[in-house]
Amino acid sequence: MASSGQPRIQWLGRWGFMLAATGSAVGLGNIWKFPYITGEYGGGAFVLVYLACILAVGVPVMMTEIAFGRRGRGSPIDAIRRVVNESGRSSMWSLIGWMAMLCGFMVLSFYVVVAGWSFSYLWKMLTGGLAGTSVDEMAAVFGANNANPITLGGWSTLVTLLTMIIVGKGVQEGIEKSVSWMMPGLVLMLVLLIGFGMFSGGFGDAVDFLFSFKAGSLSSEGMLAALGHAFFTLSLASGAILTYGSYLPKDASIGRTTLSVAVADTVVALMAGLAIFPVIFANGMDPGEGPGLLFMSLPLAFQAMPLGTLFGALFFLMLSMAALTSSISMVEATVSWLCDNKGMSRKSASWATGIVLWLISTLAMLSFNLGADWTLAGKNFFDWLDYLTSRWMMPLGGLGMVLLAGFVLKSETFRDELGLAPLPYTLWLAMVRYVSPLGILVIFVDALGLYQVSFAAHWPVLLALLVLVAVVGEAISPRLRQALSAR
Ligand code: PFF
Repeated sequence: MASSGQPRIQWLGRWGFMLAATGSAVGLGNIWKFPYITGEYGGGAFVLVYLACILAVGVPVMMTEIAFGRRGRGSPIDAIRRVVNESGRSSMWSLIGWMAMLCGFMVLSFYVVVAGWSFSYLWKMLTGGLAGTSVDEMAAVFGANNANPITLGGWSTLVTLLTMIIVGKGVQEGIEKSVSWMMPGLVLMLVLLIGFGMFSGGFGDAVDFLFSFKAGSLSSEGMLAALGHAFFTLSLASGAILTYGSYLPKDASIGRTTLSVAVADTVVALMAGLAIFPVIFANGMDPGEGPGLLFMSLPLAFQAMPLGTLFGALFFLMLSMAALTSSISMVEATVSWLCDNKGMSRKSASWATGIVLWLISTLAMLSFNLGADWTLAGKNFFDWLDYLTSRWMMPLGGLGMVLLAGFVLKSETFRDELGLAPLPYTLWLAMVRYVSPLGILVIFVDALGLYQVSFAAHWPVLLALLVLVAVVGEAISPRLRQALSAR
């Protein structure tokens, strides 16, 4: 129930949640970030670790979030409060919901800037603005694009506007309707682009780069990046998935739906790699180029090929749509909270959210020009938003949620909500109690600079630690639960 006493709205179609959650998961993270960090951290070995992180941490956390949303039928704050109250626990736990909602908002504040790059490159491709540009000029074009706050701000304002228009139309009419054509369109464009890549001459090298496992090429830093990226790419601990879960009908299977979203997200990331790297290799460019891979190397590579402008435009159209289906999910938590708690209509809640978002994202946008020198500890505002959310808030929110579900709440709550058979349920429980928390703690140890965790050297120690924690945890958890309920 929503706070207003109205029954909560639900997805209209059978595919509503699947498409919307996949739309949230598939975004700049898959098409912009995944290929460049794969390039930076050495290809196949990174991909393998990333897949392990998705399975061991991403999937259990996502199931937990959806279950919180559906059980509590509200925004992250309201849903978590209701679920903990049902187990007789303190409403203070809803702070996790506050952090998630804030995190989604902060991610969007820098996300619209990168999405704005994508829209501006789509425009450049369509209008022939990049024709005849050389390698050196490409970096200058990217620099000039960022240097002008009016045009850069214009593009991010466009993304903010489109996001708020869709969200303002509501869950069924806005979000569900838009993803129901954007997601199939996106997959179709990706398939066409892979087809183009196959004939580019670099396809074999791309496959080799993405799928051949060279153990020595992976650093500990790469492993941490893989874990952090698992959170980002599945939109975890940002309120998006939890809020979408609050519209999920009771009879849908959370386990199966989560697996489908995770598989779809991973397949799209790999497909994006298969669309991008052939073009890069065919032109003899460096796959480890970093964040500029998509906005400098790729447009240049497209320009150099027959029909390249057409496919280049298709690529940036796909990227822009992927960004939009993600950005709408990031504000849904805030808009839904305002509607449920402040008695606002959906339209006014969206516009109010949009105005605050616009102000903060403008500050993030200024990090590339006028505010480039406004730094604290060497990071500008844009970098801080990225660092705080992906290094701290997402892992911390994920940790809070799995510990809450694994140790604090009554076990019937999640057994009932997840509706799993005994074996998958036990597996989920082992993951949320031990594997996911330990994985997340490793991120913190590294982020605090306490210790450089070298996975390659320390994996036997880490495995032994995991077993030890699990044995001790299982021995004390009934007593812990008793102590908590006696309070
Ligand atoms: N999953 C999105 C991507 O990979 O681009 C990013 C994202 C969406 C993060 C929604 C957080 C969020 F709430």
